[in-house]
Amino acid sequence: MKDKAIEKLIKAETKRQNETINLIPSENYVSKDVLEALGSVLTNKYAEGYPKKRYYGGNEFIDEIENAAKARSLQAFGLKDADWGVNVQPYSGSPANLAILAALVPLGEKIMGLQLDMGGHLTHGHKVSFTSKAWKSVPYVLNKKTEELDYEAIGKFARQEKPKLIITGYTAYPKVIDFKKFREIADQAGAYLMVDMSHFAGLVAGGVYPTPFKYADVVVTTAHKTLRGPRAGVIFSKRKYYVQGLKIDDRSVERKEIDLSKLIDKAIFPGLQGGPHANQIGGIAVTMQEAMQSSFKKYAKQVVANAGVLAKELEKLGFRLVAGGTETHLILVDLTNKRMSGGEASDKLEKNGIIVNKNTIPYDPRPPMDPSGIRLGTPALTTRGMKEKEMKQVAKLMKEVLVDNKNISAEVKKLCKKFPLGY
Ligand SMILES: Cc1ncc(COP(=O)(O)O)c(C=O)c1O
Repeated sequence: MKDKAIEKLIKAETKRQNETINLIPSENYVSKDVLEALGSVLTNKYAEGYPKKRYYGGNEFIDEIENAAKARSLQAFGLKDADWGVNVQPYSGSPANLAILAALVPLGEKIMGLQLDMGGHLTHGHKVSFTSKAWKSVPYVLNKKTEELDYEAIGKFARQEKPKLIITGYTAYPKVIDFKKFREIADQAGAYLMVDMSHFAGLVAGGVYPTPFKYADVVVTTAHKTLRGPRAGVIFSKRKYYVQGLKIDDRSVERKEIDLSKLIDKAIFPGLQGGPHANQIGGIAVTMQEAMQSSFKKYAKQVVANAGVLAKELEKLGFRLVAGGTETHLILVDLTNKRMSGGEASDKLEKNGIIVNKNTIPYDPRPPMDPSGIRLGTPALTTRGMKEKEMKQVAKLMKEVLVDNKNISAEVKKLCKKFPLGY
């Protein structure tokens, strides 16, 4: 690189990634192939529009890449083009979510997602997000005792509020979601069911988490969490959605079929975005192909097994886990009994080379900037090749830092050295 200042910083970041234990559940390490697609000449091209319907010339290969990304995305989740439309142009998860709301919910109408401090995402209607300014957000909560979804209570709330769209799929929820129950809730409320599988998409592709496609109207994912791809968004939407009792031109129509994917495509371009990022789309194509390999199924299984072991070990060492543990890649630890905030814990761990993020716990008495918990996950460490044995070691190291006030930086570096990233 000619730019020595930035080259030096990229090298420093590569070293940091290699030498730290990364427990952030939304991060991962992409393959060299994904990196190559991201850093390729694809970034030079303008391609506003969709394959064969572009506003710029010179898109013959970009068209092929976008079509491959779409076809592979469908294949990776066992879907047929006749049933599901797919859009691979969202710049990331947040613009993808905004596009879905813009496509399906008239401005000012109600949307219903999980409250942010319970594990929902900003774009699911949080008060500081544009999604709650453009639409009326009526968030649901978790059960205070179990710290889990209470389908009966959510159903009752949805029947009362009658939102136009209900969102399930979260940012900090350690348990498996019952999509069938959410389908019933959405039907009773007369709402679209949107599943944001950003966090667990890799687990779905790997066959270790139930598929939401049987029940959802729209499914959105980021490519960069458990799926292990580039920072980008992908939206799947039903080609045949049936509206009951719709009024068209003053005529009542009994049952009308709508292709939701046409609405989503229009909302992405020209509704919200301009030229797609072809390098990211190339990265999505590579990612989806990787996600179809048997090695990825093994990876996804190991991610969940590792999280299970890490959770059990932490519990044995005296940590309280929100919702009593994990069924996924993600663990929420409540540090109240350790008399320390999530922020303090995160800082202490980082000084020793263990990277986590502070996080609210359900019904957190502390403020979001300094909440009671930390959020952990195993996707990144599993990509490095770590297994159950290493998870036990990681739990022990965390306890040594947080409870015994030990400095374990040397041990962290030693462990990381055994599992290099390959870049
Ligand atoms: C469930 C969920 N949806 C959407 C997003 C937004 O993705 P991005 O950060 O790519 O905008 C996130 C990111 O944390 C997420 O956890």
